[in-house]
Amino acid sequence: MALHGKRIVVGLGGGIAAFKAVALVRELMRRGAEVRVVMTDAATRFVGPVTFAGLTGKPPVTNLWAEDYAGEVHVELGEWAEAMVVAPATMNLMARAATGQANDALLATLACARGVLFFAPAMHARMWSHPATQANAQTLLDRGAVLVGPVSGALANGEIGEGRMSEPEDIADAVESHLSYGDDLAGARILITAGPTHEDLDPVRFLGNRSSGRMGYAIAQKALRRGADVTLVSGPVHLPAPAGADVVSVRSAREMHDAVMARFESHDVVIMAAAVADYRPSARESHKIKKSDDLALELVRNPDILADVGAKRTDTPSVLVGFALETQDLEQSARGKLERKRADLIVANEASAGLGRETNRVTLVDGDGATALPEMSKTAVADQILDRIRALLSTRPRRPRNEAKQGPPN
Ligand code: CTP
Repeated sequence: MALHGKRIVVGLGGGIAAFKAVALVRELMRRGAEVRVVMTDAATRFVGPVTFAGLTGKPPVTNLWAEDYAGEVHVELGEWAEAMVVAPATMNLMARAATGQANDALLATLACARGVLFFAPAMHARMWSHPATQANAQTLLDRGAVLVGPVSGALANGEIGEGRMSEPEDIADAVESHLSYGDDLAGARILITAGPTHEDLDPVRFLGNRSSGRMGYAIAQKALRRGADVTLVSGPVHLPAPAGADVVSVRSAREMHDAVMARFESHDVVIMAAAVADYRPSARESHKIKKSDDLALELVRNPDILADVGAKRTDTPSVLVGFALETQDLEQSARGKLERKRADLIVANEASAGLGRETNRVTLVDGDGATALPEMSKTAVADQILDRIRALLSTRPRRPRNEAKQGPPN
């Protein structure tokens, strides 16, 4: 119940995604929040206020002129709310919010809100990419609001594009993360590797492993939520790209090596969550290998990316994090990797605990000792890892952005 006792106003604009706000209100309440709802007139045409009255136990505020609201309901709600979530935030609503209009219950409450403002945009892709909307979104961001989404996908009219409202669970995650951590990683540039690597044998076959990429993607998602700039170097996975991350897609260990080596110096933190193949076939056949009586595969070692960053880094990254999948002597093996690969933190897990699953049970091993965490969701593990990284970062001098961005002299 991470939102236990938190007071949240959900404000609905008039868009078809308003139906998802029902699930959002439920999700916030399921996580322990106390929720009040404010709707624009247009929103009431998409979802009935009675639905929210039933869910929250209080009639939503829809009209400042209603007799029941005689007084200052927008001021009261604005002061009451620790967070206000506008979902769906339509193009029109964002424009009115950015220009400080207060001509209905929702806008008036937004104007009085003292807590954090979240906007979950939902509109057609052309409306989202419209320069006016982009400028309004920027204005809201500059004033400290948090944008959640929009994401790419099927729009209401069946077209595919960026403008779809984030899923209720993702919006609730963003609210929860922000109320728990704020922007505590703002300004940190974090490079994360994730997923497996595929080592080709021939045009149709490869050697791979069962890594889903979920752990690395969860860290990327959480780091973004906490304000970091994120580069995600990803092997082949079936996961949506986290909104806001700079995603570099790679396939083999050597491609991942090249992508990381070209970028590590411009990052404060490098987290190697990928399950990199240690070996690759010594040759990639250009034609499909035919059946024969015997087939012997010759394998050669892949570069160790983590060890290479450890050996080559000077000032940046100031925190280098590796993962270790072990079947025995967890802590001792992890400590060996910490030293051998010159990392600052190793996230160690039993082979049986995390691979391909939603949860993970890890032990954090750094220069000061080892902390065994209980089994929890990968997203919760991600926050624990980021907490430890933030603590490590605070002990090291942060290099100015422009200085660290420059590559090595040629
Ligand atoms: N790693 C890497 N490049 C490789 C292999 C691994 O960067 N070619 C990174 C992984 O991303 C992970 C860490 O190294 O962060 C640990 O990987 P692991 O294969 O468990 O470590 P090894 O030192 O290869 O140890 P082992 O002998 O247990 O395989």
